[in-house]
Amino acid sequence: MRIDILTVVPELLESPFAHSIIRRAKAKGIVELEVHNIRDYATGKRRHVDDYAFSGDAGMVMMIEPVYRAITELKSRRAYDEVIYTSPDGELFGQKEANRLSTLDGIIILCGHYKGIDHRIREHLITREISIGDYVLTGGELAAAVICDAAIRLLPGALGDESSALSDSFQDNLLAPPVYTRPAEFNGWKVPEILLQGNAAAIDRWKFEQSVERTGRLRPGLL
Ligand code: ADE
Repeated sequence: MRIDILTVVPELLESPFAHSIIRRAKAKGIVELEVHNIRDYATGKRRHVDDYAFSGDAGMVMMIEPVYRAITELKSRRAYDEVIYTSPDGELFGQKEANRLSTLDGIIILCGHYKGIDHRIREHLITREISIGDYVLTGGELAAAVICDAAIRLLPGALGDESSALSDSFQDNLLAPPVYTRPAEFNGWKVPEILLQGNAAAIDRWKFEQSVERTGRLRPGLL
């Protein structure tokens, strides 16, 4: 999978992709991920990427030309399945969309910033608009990191144990069951007896019951 991210603050995306599972997925060639500074596509002495809104409203608007140039150049090198824009008024992101994105060959993610982008970019260049929640971030970079993380960890070979993504919360509309490790008792706090008895079928049944109980209690809307 190939992911190209366009941002005016590339520094915000250094750490999320430099550690753990995502770093390993990059090193193994499971994902090619490149962050591009939109300013590199700006012209003029000051390389402006934002300008005042025609409406006279407060706040700057991301200009059309640098973004257009960046997307056009990327598209001239390879084909992309989606050009995503991160914005609080996009479609709400969830596990289903993470699953879908993880099956694509190439995506561009444009991170919104300032008061937003010139709307013509959304009309003519963007194929999907994604929000990661009903709250407003200072920019779309953290949203892009969330989207990439959720999709990349699903790529074959990204997780050490292939089966572990299948048992994630949300994969079957159920929250994951609780997990425990050694010691079996700490401070008098005990691991559920059933997990210590080695009966795989009984453990599976217990896990399912726990998932259903937790989902009903914590996220009844999922059931
Ligand atoms: N940019 C600002 N807030 C956002 C959000 N909630 N989701 C995606 N992008 C955003």
